[in-house]
Amino acid sequence: MLWHVANPIHKSFGSDNHAGAHPSVLAAVAAANSGDAVPYGADDISQRAEQMLCEATGAARAILVFNGTAANVAGLSLMLRHPYEAVICAQTSHLNIDECGASERILGCKLLPVDTPDGKLNPDLIATRLGGRGDEHRAQPRIVQLAQVTEVGTCYSLAELRAIQDFCRANDLLIYIDGARLANAAAQLGCSLADLGACADVLSFGGTKNGALGVEAVLVMTGSLADGAMYQRKQLMQLGSKMRFLSAQVIGLLDDDVWLANARQANAMARRLAAAVSAIPGVEIAYAMEGNGVFASIGQEQAELLQQDWNFHVWEATADGRCVVRWMTAFDTTEADVDGLAAAVEASVIHVKHASAR
Ligand SMILES: Cc1ncc(COP(=O)(O)O)c(C=O)c1O
Repeated sequence: MLWHVANPIHKSFGSDNHAGAHPSVLAAVAAANSGDAVPYGADDISQRAEQMLCEATGAARAILVFNGTAANVAGLSLMLRHPYEAVICAQTSHLNIDECGASERILGCKLLPVDTPDGKLNPDLIATRLGGRGDEHRAQPRIVQLAQVTEVGTCYSLAELRAIQDFCRANDLLIYIDGARLANAAAQLGCSLADLGACADVLSFGGTKNGALGVEAVLVMTGSLADGAMYQRKQLMQLGSKMRFLSAQVIGLLDDDVWLANARQANAMARRLAAAVSAIPGVEIAYAMEGNGVFASIGQEQAELLQQDWNFHVWEATADGRCVVRWMTAFDTTEADVDGLAAAVEASVIHVKHASAR
């Protein structure tokens, strides 16, 4: 993945975590900063945050952690029983690619990545990794890990999730959903967090990309897996002593459904961007746009030119001097930001065309 820090005048399309924090989150944190409070989550604010999360999602338990990698490690940790167990995931998953092998190191488990056309697993793809079951030479699959929204901006429908769940139940597998962008998925599907939660045994609910300063929740849907959750969180170094400030961020997002408004705004801006750039000759949408990320195939030269002024990732190089770029929107991306980028994309096409004609 190539990285470039560009003109700070323009809104960054590099990631939804380039955005600042939402005012409601800051207000909730400021409100929590009053007097003393008992530490380690025993305070009233933390109790309320957990209760709100459980009510919104149907979770039996909700534990807060500092970041998305920790949420994934903690979530998987609740579900793995033995060191020989393995996790089936998409090859493109953040878990597999962008967590520096955290779960392999900390949990000692093997990841079994699967190539997918669009970042999504399905029963047939999962089945390709079950051949070694019962073979003492092979790690034994225990968990299927999905991301919702996926790392390439696609979103599982509820029907797709339920089909995976049926398959997993029939095959003695548990489901973990990386919900770093769960809010964007709920906004995209028009469903509740509880609808999504019901499709998993454990899942994360990302706050950071949704307007928090930095907090993620691990939601335990299958109650029996919650046994020991608090000990695991401590061992995994995710028990903040001033937990009230993590918890206040969650309250800032859940109160008045700020999380949903934030996700809707980010998704709407991605839709606007996808519509604008797909009308530009030479720009092709690479993956279905089903959240807050637009993945587009453009010329390599064009990408380099654009990156001089705009911050975004080149996701993958493809044939014929082209590449797939990723443009992410956030809760604070505006129509003017999107229109500015779309105009720059159009101008870059014209520039490269004229330059090559000279
Ligand atoms: C799908 C997904 N999961 C998890 C994360 C969270 O990772 P971090 O540990 O950086 O908070 C990200 C962040 O980019 C992500 O895209």
